[in-house]
Amino acid sequence: MTTNNTQTSPRKVVRIINGMPTTDGAGVELVRVIGQSTLMELDPFLLLDSFHSDDPNDYISGFPSHPHRGFETVTYLLNGRMRHKDNAGNEGVIAAGSVQWMTAGKGIIHSEIPEQENGLLQGFQLWINLPASHKMTTPKYQEYDNDSIPTENRNNTSIKVIAGTTSHATTGPVVQPLTVPLYFDIKLEANAEFSETLPLEHNAFVYVIKGEIRLLNEQDETALIKRDQLAVLTKGESLTLKSNEQATQFLLIAGKPLNEPVARGGPFVMNTEDEIQQAIHDYQNGQL
Ligand code: CO
Repeated sequence: MTTNNTQTSPRKVVRIINGMPTTDGAGVELVRVIGQSTLMELDPFLLLDSFHSDDPNDYISGFPSHPHRGFETVTYLLNGRMRHKDNAGNEGVIAAGSVQWMTAGKGIIHSEIPEQENGLLQGFQLWINLPASHKMTTPKYQEYDNDSIPTENRNNTSIKVIAGTTSHATTGPVVQPLTVPLYFDIKLEANAEFSETLPLEHNAFVYVIKGEIRLLNEQDETALIKRDQLAVLTKGESLTLKSNEQATQFLLIAGKPLNEPVARGGPFVMNTEDEIQQAIHDYQNGQL
């Protein structure tokens, strides 16, 4: 099937990705879903890490001081607490239900350390690219706690809207006109259906947190997306998902593709290899 006729066609599943268990920071056990060999990127999304553990050995050392340049990091916690500090003197705690949307721009050096000593730590870090014109922008934060993020309730569905606007006109607090992201955390009751419209040309994916959901694939057969799986979607204007006999929770995330060259150098994501070398040089010389 081609991408003709996207104007009227619903979004379908292109493929389903299983995350890759990995270790990052000072020994944090996590699952890398975007940014690994089976899905290096989904423009403008560069990385998606999922962490979910009640064993402190999996997370307690956190992510000590490290740099970023050229993109945004979005940390969304479902359970637990993380303390954040940066080289500009900003410090705060990301608590359960809250989001930290950090525009690293020309450079931030920060640490992200779990504040708790035990209990469940669960959440996500998503990296969203910036266009060449804004990679060297001044760093900034958009931080919202659970109470300042709206939840829209429909029949059988609740939608926590972190970024973007739903078809029922609920708007999330995070604003990013460069990639116009949607970031929804959706809970669907058992045997229920959820429909939403999406910007036609945005790249979009679904990541299942709990239960499983069904959606048509490109062969018009039903694709089952299970817990901890990510489904890459075709372009299109609408999306309809169904739950099974158990309640489900999933992220629906979409963004406008940048269609620019991507050069990666660990915590730096630029357009060219020369710019990566410059970022490494600037970091080593205390100029981030
Ligand atoms: Co970081």
